[in-house]
Amino acid sequence: MSDAQAADLFRTSFGTDPEGVWEAPGRVNLIGEHVDYQDGLVLPVALPQRTWVAARRRGDERLRVVTTAGEDLVEVNLGEVAPGVPAGWAGYPAGVVWALRQASYPVSGMDLAVHSTVPIGAGLSSSAALEGAVGAAASDLYGLGLLGSDQGRAELAGWCQRAENEIAQAPTGGMDQAAALRAIAGHALLLDCQDQSLQQVPFDLDRYGQALLVIDTRAEHSLVDGQYGARRAACERAAQLLGVELLADVPRDGLEEALGRLGASGEEDADVLVRRTRHVVTEIARTRELVALLQDGRALAGEKLAAAGALMDASHESLRVDYEVTVPELDVACQAARDAGAHGARMTGGG
Ligand code: GLA
Repeated sequence: MSDAQAADLFRTSFGTDPEGVWEAPGRVNLIGEHVDYQDGLVLPVALPQRTWVAARRRGDERLRVVTTAGEDLVEVNLGEVAPGVPAGWAGYPAGVVWALRQASYPVSGMDLAVHSTVPIGAGLSSSAALEGAVGAAASDLYGLGLLGSDQGRAELAGWCQRAENEIAQAPTGGMDQAAALRAIAGHALLLDCQDQSLQQVPFDLDRYGQALLVIDTRAEHSLVDGQYGARRAACERAAQLLGVELLADVPRDGLEEALGRLGASGEEDADVLVRRTRHVVTEIARTRELVALLQDGRALAGEKLAAAGALMDASHESLRVDYEVTVPELDVACQAARDAGAHGARMTGGG
């Protein structure tokens, strides 16, 4: 019982009982990769792997955080929380408390003990699971009432994203925080990042004798090493050149024309802009197609299963060639899965 592990760590670290233990899941994204920050459509499912946070309010403005992952206890005064402070993993919990306070919620000091089964840096949203669990704890302990409705959860997800963007300084979109706080069992979450609206899409592979295999290649990734930010910046530049706010505004049937304009833009890296744009626009179309398939009422078998698998394969290829966010470990894992009979395989997360 991992909630017990968080509570035990709390007792040994802080010498008292926590007021409760809160949790949030990691996620795997079925399709819709690297499109959330371009206002696209994403389709994550929550994982059984999750993060537990045992928490207790304090009477002051201190935040103390400790984890079973073997890092030192971090202590920070809430007034000192700022971009990059505290550094490292403690920036996520501190950032969530900071963001809630920015929103004028009456949140103050807390002691937090964290235990997680979400692999770290594996593209499965370990940071959003941590943010979500801390946000849930703060909401309940300080009576914010954000967990009672999907609208409240959407708002909390937004504050968690702000923590990640501003304090942890990872320029991510909002998919992971939405999955951590808004996903429900037995469903994939179709999130339209333009307005954060969502649809719960029934996703029950068991029923059709299928399974989703999640592989951790152990090839580490980071969302603050500049690569993720460079992809995002290229998309923003391409959108600007095309005269749209974000690339989700380029319709699928206007793609060729848009690519032609980018190619002729005279930009030094026009070829890169073309490929990044092609990925985003085709990936949004693939997400729409996969959702249509999942919702067409037919059993997930035969041709339909093959079509769903082909969309996943095409997503991977686009991420490999056009978006350049895969590594050989990911390509090999996908190919090995297909060779072993998988209907489709793709990388997931930031890459
Ligand atoms: C990371 C980010 C998300 C999303 C994915 C790529 O997980 O946190 O916002 O951009 O990468 O789809």
